[in-house]
Order: sequence, then C-alpha cells, then structure tokens
Amino acid sequence: MANIVVLGTQWGDEGKGKIIDLIAPAFDVVARFQGGHNAGHTVYINGKKIVLHLIPSGILRRGKLCIIGNGVVINPQAFLDEISELKKFGVEIDKNIVMSDKAHLILPYHSSAEKVSEKSRGAKKIGTTSRGIGPSYQDKAGRLGIRTGDLLDLDVLREKIEQNVTEKNIYLRHYGAEIFDPEKIFEAYADYGQHLKTYLADVSLILDDKIKEGRTVLFEGAQGTLLDVDHGTYPFVTSSNSTIGGVCTGLGIGPNKIDAVWGVSKAYTTRVGGGPFPTEIADDTGRLLLERGNEFGATTGRPRRCGWLDAVAVAFSCRINGISHMILTKPDVLDGLEEIKVCVEYRYKGDRLRSFPSESWILDKVEPRYKKIRGWKKPVHGIRDYSKLPQAFKDYVKFIEDFIQAKISLISTGMERKDSVLIEEDLKHAMNLEKIRAEL
Ligand code: GDP
Ligand code: IMO
Ligand code: MG
Repeated sequence: MANIVVLGTQWGDEGKGKIIDLIAPAFDVVARFQGGHNAGHTVYINGKKIVLHLIPSGILRRGKLCIIGNGVVINPQAFLDEISELKKFGVEIDKNIVMSDKAHLILPYHSSAEKVSEKSRGAKKIGTTSRGIGPSYQDKAGRLGIRTGDLLDLDVLREKIEQNVTEKNIYLRHYGAEIFDPEKIFEAYADYGQHLKTYLADVSLILDDKIKEGRTVLFEGAQGTLLDVDHGTYPFVTSSNSTIGGVCTGLGIGPNKIDAVWGVSKAYTTRVGGGPFPTEIADDTGRLLLERGNEFGATTGRPRRCGWLDAVAVAFSCRINGISHMILTKPDVLDGLEEIKVCVEYRYKGDRLRSFPSESWILDKVEPRYKKIRGWKKPVHGIRDYSKLPQAFKDYVKFIEDFIQAKISLISTGMERKDSVLIEEDLKHAMNLEKIRAEL
C-alpha cells in the first residue's frame, strides 16, 4: 500500500477534513506539512461536528500517529485548546501527536503586525484569518523566527524574544498599535514550553523509521493550490506552500516517499477573503449555494463567496501538483438545479488564455466561458453506491475527468463519513478499502 498526499485544488475548504477522516483507517500515520490554525477542517460523526485547525484530521481515528511538520506554524495556545476540545469529545490523546521541533511559533506581535498590514492595504486587503500566520512565516524567511525547539532552552528563548520584540515594537509604535513587554511574552512562552515539550521530536526521522517499517502515511494539505504563496492568486494567498512541494520541505522527506497525489475539489467553487474569483456568482444561485452548502468559514465564520466550478483552475492545480486522482465533494449541493455551469475557458482582451494566469490583475479581468450541463433530477445526496448515481451526474463526472485529465475516484455526497461513493477499481491500488469500510 502507498503513501498518499491529499490536498486542495481550489481556494481551500474543499472538504479535506471529511476526506482525511474517512480514509485515515487505511493509513498508519497522518501528517500535516504547512499552514497553521488558519485552517478549519470539519468532520461530522453521527451529527456531531468537530473542527480541526492544527491537529491532523486523522486524530479522530484510534491508533493513528498524527504528525505536525516543521512547515506548520504553531500558536501554542491554539494547539493546547484544540487538545482540550478533542479530549472533551472523548478523543484519546496520549502518544498519538508529535510536533516538529523545527516548526515556527506564532507570537502575539504577529497578529498585531497582521492587523496593521491589513489596515494599510485598505480596499486591497487580503482578508486574512487574523491568526498571525503571514507575519510568522515572514519571520521564518527573514531568519528571525522562533521555533518550537527554542522553547526548551530558556536563555535562547529569552534572547530571541527580546530581539524580536525590540524590533517589532518600533514598527508597531510607528503605526500607533499596541506594543509588547518582552518579559511577559517570555513568561507565557516558557510556560508553553513545559506543555509542548512532550510532543516535540524530529518528525523527519520518525517518518523515515515508519516508512522503513512498512507503515503508510497520509499527508494532509491545508488551504488549497490557489492559496499557495508561489502558485496561487498572489498576493491574495496564504504564506505557505500548500502545493505538493510543501510536503517534502514541510516534513523533511524525499519525493520518492510519495506514491500518489490526490486532489480534492468541490463541485462548485468558494473563496473566503479578497482576491479575484472569475466564476463568482452574484445572483440568487450564489446565495443558494451559500445556504445549501452552509458555506461559512470553519475558522472565522465569514460567509464564503460562491461560484461555479472552475475547471480551468482545477486543471491548473492538477498540473502544479501532479494529481492523478481527484476527490469530488459536495455535488449534493447542486441537486435539483436545472442547469449547472462549468468554466472551461478564460478569455483576456478577446484572446483565449492557454492556462490559468499567474497575475491577479489579469485574473480579475478574464472573461470565463462556460459549458452548460444538464442537472440531474434524482438527488445524489447520501448515495453510497456508484451504480445508484443518476446517469446525468455520471456524465457530468466524465466531462470533468476529461477536462482536468484526472480520474474522479471518490465522490462525497454528504457531510457524514458514510455519505461517500468509493470507486473500488481506483482506490484499491492506493489504500486498504476493507479498513475504510470496516470503520464507516
Ligand atoms: P476543509 O477546510 O477542506 O476541510 O473544508 P471545510 O471543513 O472548511 O468545509 C467543507 C464543509 O463542507 C464542511 O462543513 C463539511 O462538513 C462539508 N462537506 C464536506 N463534504 C461534503 C459533501 O459531500 N456534501 C455536503 N453537503 N457537505 C460536505
Ligand atoms: P482550509 O485548510 C479557506 C484564506 C484567508 C485569506 C487568505 C490569507 O480550511 O482550507 P491567512 O490567514 O492564511 O494569511 O489568510 O487565505 N485562507 C483560507 N481560506 N480555507 C482555508 O483553510 C484558509 N486558510 C487561509 O481567508 O483569504
Ligand atoms: Mg476549511
């Protein structure tokens, strides 16, 4: 059996959490490689909702080792709060969570710096989650960052906090924002160190050992390809590599340890925050998708912008990531629509674009061209058996597969684990289907 990456192919919230939780029984390890508590991965278990932010969505399955890689940025309080929530839910937390000692920390001044930056952008603000994610990655790249491993040496920690706070306070004071007392931050983070130390380890080494022992790993993406700092709709992106390269750098593994890359795409498109969105629907259909799809941010509660499926964007994501198989989520939200549109071409200044453009200001002005597809009369909501899917829906799936050049191998038809069509002939090569079925 194989080590598989599952990542988003749109602007996040594709339903990665549900899928990871669904297929986790077939794997031994579930590993996050980037992002932070800006992510909100929702899982429903018998009507009960759980939202994971930092901890891999495999945690809800007994006996899975959940790894948080060096590419993830950590707010220690958010991490500890998430563990408390999970415990309240009856999830056992023992030796099943490991965090890289090279992961960078989010400190209180990061959120303040983010507020200042967003305010100064005015109408062009990114619409971030205000979690301090961007400024923490900025410090990492700027070689000022403080890592989880630094929490273990109090002299090192104190020196780094003093250096950072001195610098940040100059900036914050200039913009009239709250300034910070380094001693208070030091005390709080020294205390976090006491709580975090049992989780810290060299995750690259652990993964290498596990893979050598023949254990299988599921790599869980956060955000989506179009939010990737390099390949996404820059600058309206997050600050990490949510695309395939992030797996290797964010966990310290070689690409030869990855056997396949699976993408997740909604049957339509959503986006939270600012930035271009060619297939956004302004009329009542957009509102219908918002309401039926319950499209409210899992982290910030903000209503998500809704639009038609953008197959040009998803095909681009397949190329960037080398996606062989696709997981389609939320087609049930389109149940009953007479007509469904799929964007198959962009025009810019009258010319057809060969691919998804790299500049946001071009994307802002592209004219999407649609293929109109007949809707399916019989609802797909809750269907679990491929043979029971209506023919019009199967035709729609085939159309998307041909366009994006990837096989749709799993179809989610609702929020619950059981609401899933597992396409056996595709899945059986990649994961142990019996184990998934046994825990449905
Ligand atoms: P993630 O960030 O990619 O994990 O996605 P989110 O959890 O932020 O958003 C996806 C939302 O869609 C969640 O509320 C899920 O419970 C829900 N969801 C996932 N799959 C399906 C599906 O097939 N049908 C419906 N109706 N809801 C789904
Ligand atoms: P999951 O993992 C959807 C968006 C924010 C904003 C931009 C930058 O649940 O799919 P940031 O706080 O990261 O600096 O914000 O990225 N964003 C997400 N949108 N799903 C997410 O995660 C997101 N994480 C960040 O709304 O537009
Ligand atoms: Mg989400």
